[in-house]
Amino acid sequence: MTHQLSELTAEELRSFVAEQLERSRGRTVQLTDAVDTDDLVRQHSKLMSPLVWDYAHIGNQEELWLVRDVGGREPVRQDIDELYDAFMHARSDRPSLPLLGPAETRQYVVEVRDKVLDVLDHVKFQGGELLDNAFAFGMIVQHEQQHDETMLATHQLRTGTPVLDAPAPPPGRRLATPEVLVPGGIFEMGTSIEPWALDNERPAHPVHVAPYVIDTAPVSNGDYLKFVTGGGYQDPRWWSEAGWAHVQKASLVAPRFWELEDGNWLRTRFGHRELLPLDEPVMHACFYEAEAYAKWAGKRLPTEEEWEFAARFDPETGRTRRFPWGDESPGPQHANLGQRHLRPAPIGAYPAGASPLGVEQLIGDVWEWTSSDFKPYPGFRAFPYDEYSLVFFGSDYKMLRGGSFGTDEVVARSTFRNWDYPIRRQIFAGFRCARDPRPEELG
Ligand code: AVJ
Ligand code: FE
Repeated sequence: MTHQLSELTAEELRSFVAEQLERSRGRTVQLTDAVDTDDLVRQHSKLMSPLVWDYAHIGNQEELWLVRDVGGREPVRQDIDELYDAFMHARSDRPSLPLLGPAETRQYVVEVRDKVLDVLDHVKFQGGELLDNAFAFGMIVQHEQQHDETMLATHQLRTGTPVLDAPAPPPGRRLATPEVLVPGGIFEMGTSIEPWALDNERPAHPVHVAPYVIDTAPVSNGDYLKFVTGGGYQDPRWWSEAGWAHVQKASLVAPRFWELEDGNWLRTRFGHRELLPLDEPVMHACFYEAEAYAKWAGKRLPTEEEWEFAARFDPETGRTRRFPWGDESPGPQHANLGQRHLRPAPIGAYPAGASPLGVEQLIGDVWEWTSSDFKPYPGFRAFPYDEYSLVFFGSDYKMLRGGSFGTDEVVARSTFRNWDYPIRRQIFAGFRCARDPRPEELG
């Protein structure tokens, strides 16, 4: 339970960190061992790095922060820093770099990890923001888990025989109501107390939210299909100017990985071609598609504030909570996280994850597009480096909230903020709709 780290003894904190480091590495190894050498070095899409780049980049970030900075040790491989600096080379150019090969990469990350475990054995968790509550270790664990989700997206773009599989998620159920009125009010957005919250989630600050109506579930494939077959992609009325320009230029007719074959809609998921499951949240729709669907449905996307209010506000006590279901860290009964199921769960699969107002599946399943741009919270301070958040602020990116089935629980805080370009579809993103209340609903 990462919110109570300050109550742990140094020894308990050490073993918690070791466990988290091991868990993230286990996933990295699984995602990279699943494919052969050629698939590791190949670029599966111009949008993504070769898997072997992510792998060594994970090790290099770990070396920079935990071996050199926190540990004060000698560099392991200073000569490769530049190759694995995300700002030096665009993803599309990474395959042409003199990257470490798969064997060298594996050797490198193991060498770094051995040093880190030694640093962990000797470190004092005090005397600075990087050390308090083992923040730097938490940042590096989350960095690896975030790249693991990125590598999972690369797997989704990979063609050929399927190599990933996982058990099916729990069954869905019919929700009592498709939308609920959220009364609005003042809540505390962001956090100053989650020890491993990253810079852009900080600090906690009061935000006033006007009453609004929000869907109790993400939009399903079945609902989205009605927009597709009803001519939604051919009608400029539903699209923003930028969205319409994009849908025409890119010739979009449906979410990515959907195909119409002999009258049946299919979707491809990690190489498996299957009938489109109508009761699953829609995914691989870009921001513009989400925005257009919402308008077609007579609704709109929620703002980031509205999303977080729905996920954290407890109307009974007026308190802001950690998660929709309360303060408990996510368990398998609450949310579809951590690559346990390699797909979103059907609508209604997580009654135990519902908010007090009955809003479900806010955490896990699919990232949810919001209408907001990436802005710093009042009092924001870049920490510990400008390139995590600061350089991305502005109107180029749209905010995504809640995490997906591919997101680890160490990342999937209700305060966690993700962002991407409004045209991106390879990520595990869908959305839910919101709207302004009608006067009679406010009574
Ligand atoms: C927060 C997911 C947008 O993948 O670009 C990884 C996370 N930052 N390495 C990204 C990140 C540096 C970031 N996102
Ligand atoms: Fe990175």
